[in-house]
Amino acid sequence: MYRQQILDHYKNPRNYGELDDPSFTHVGENPMCGDALRVDIKLADDDETIEGVSFKGDGCAISQAAASMFSGELRGKTLEDLDAMDRDDVIDLLGVDISPVRVKCAVLAEKIAQDGASIYRGEKEEMEKTTTEE
Ligand code: FES
Repeated sequence: MYRQQILDHYKNPRNYGELDDPSFTHVGENPMCGDALRVDIKLADDDETIEGVSFKGDGCAISQAAASMFSGELRGKTLEDLDAMDRDDVIDLLGVDISPVRVKCAVLAEKIAQDGASIYRGEKEEMEKTTTEE
């Protein structure tokens, strides 16, 4: 049954595409195979709550299904929640045992979203510092 769910998300990925007006976008790749994904995240007015998520790119069934499930899971969570997520959260969503070599596929979207969020927050802090220094 779980395998069927992975196949369903792979064939009909949820949240696939690009957001019109993302708060930030980040692209990353799985160094093991070179498959790349783009993740867009739109934040609510509090600049912390995730309002919209989309992803786009190539990858194997595990990476695409994980991105699809993970993107659905993120809506309504905060950047702090995203930061606190680890690979087991994504593997739990997939519901199957993942061989060590496929773990990078499973966590690809999660890692890209986390890297994007950390760059976004870093840039924001930098901007705030510059604005207060002026
Ligand atoms: Fe490339 Fe899985 S083999 S993402």
